Amino acid sequence: MPDDKKMSDAVSSASSDKTRDQYETYPYPARNPEDEDKRLISGSPGNWDEVVHFVFGGRDPSAQTKSGKIKILVAGGGTGDALVMLAQQARDRKAKAEIVYIDLSESSRAIAEARIKRRNLEKNVTFVTGSFVDLASKYGPFDYIDCCGVLHHLPDPDAGLRALADALKPNGGMGLMVYGELGRTGVYHMQEMMERLNAEAGGARRLNFGKALFNSLPGTNWLKRNPFVGDHINGGDAGFYDLLLHQQDRAYRVDEVFDFAEQAGLRIQNFIEPMRYDPTTYCSRHDVLDRAMHVPFRERAALAELMAGNITKHTFYVVKAKNKVQPPQPSPDAIPFFTRLDGPSLARSVAKTGNIKITFTGLSVTRTLPAASPAILSRIDGKRSIAEIYQTFDPKPEKYEFNAQFAVMYSVLCAANILYLHLPSKK
Ligand SMILES: C[S@@+](CC[C@H](N)C(=O)[O-])C[C@H]1O[C@@H](n2cnc3c(N)ncnc32)[C@H](O)[C@@H]1O
Repeated sequence: MPDDKKMSDAVSSASSDKTRDQYETYPYPARNPEDEDKRLISGSPGNWDEVVHFVFGGRDPSAQTKSGKIKILVAGGGTGDALVMLAQQARDRKAKAEIVYIDLSESSRAIAEARIKRRNLEKNVTFVTGSFVDLASKYGPFDYIDCCGVLHHLPDPDAGLRALADALKPNGGMGLMVYGELGRTGVYHMQEMMERLNAEAGGARRLNFGKALFNSLPGTNWLKRNPFVGDHINGGDAGFYDLLLHQQDRAYRVDEVFDFAEQAGLRIQNFIEPMRYDPTTYCSRHDVLDRAMHVPFRERAALAELMAGNITKHTFYVVKAKNKVQPPQPSPDAIPFFTRLDGPSLARSVAKTGNIKITFTGLSVTRTLPAASPAILSRIDGKRSIAEIYQTFDPKPEKYEFNAQFAVMYSVLCAANILYLHLPSKK
């Protein structure tokens, strides 16, 4: 093979010019750096507490590295949502984090840099313009890599994920998001229509043509009937373009996500929210569940995706296949804490109904919690261990009964991404 052919293959597997041009013109998501004064955008993957839970077994990651620092890569960081969240959450937790941001798009980087400056977080962040497929190893190895909504835009996503895996430390892990096929029904119909109509190649002309086409579609069109995607309606021009007009874009079914991780030597710890990938969330018939539940995790998750129909993206955490780390389980010294809910108000609402209602992309699921849940929930402060929470009861419940109720309550709330456990660092 001539050298110039090898060269162009290398460039095309790393990124496509159309992708870079799109994000130069429409940095995604649209963000105004001044809004950093008002709010912190947080989400998955990359929420610090989730990362500690799924990647580091519930123990402080900086205490697990020789340098006392955790090294993070935000690959395809866009306008900076994950970067800003991780940098701010690390500071809030007094964790030492060194973060590298890599993106193809200069204009996205400018917004991400301005957001970081606005929060005075620039000291520990390095900004790089280019493809992480080529550059990740040069700046690594990393303890944690965040790559959200990016790999499905690469000409060769498998090679992209292998490049990230090569830049990961043996005990590190990644938070990833790739599109889900079923929940995006209609999106690829729109992309195909654009293709068949020989639509403009890029920029404002492509956007205007795409909007004209979308506005002409009848109510029977699958995209018009899909209530689970909304970026084309709520996300401004950047959102419309990103959802419907992308020219390098694919989606995954659960089986493909497992294959994707495995070919890169990675193991899936879990999806977010874990409950969405569990058939019992959707079905209570024993005759069906008898067959659905006695199969490997991959099969259960694939079935759950088919049952739900509303999974628009797969958010998941991976570690190296050989890494045996598991998320923490309840034990006397584990410290429970809420990830994104206000504990006292959850305790009050569970006390009234005995239930918790969780809504995932248009589907509400109600779960009954054990009787002691309100009393336990009201005592969770992110500082007390489970053993200490038990000690605050007067009179004390039977210990076996308390632990059993805690375990059932925890399994529901953890699967809903509401309650996690923190373990003290190993001495
Ligand atoms: C949909 S945006 C997602 C941005 C961000 N991760 C988020 O979730 O908000 C995709 C980003 O990936 C970047 N990107 C695509 N391919 C890349 C590559 N090979 N190397 C670096 N960045 C890339 C694009 O420039 C764009 O900013």
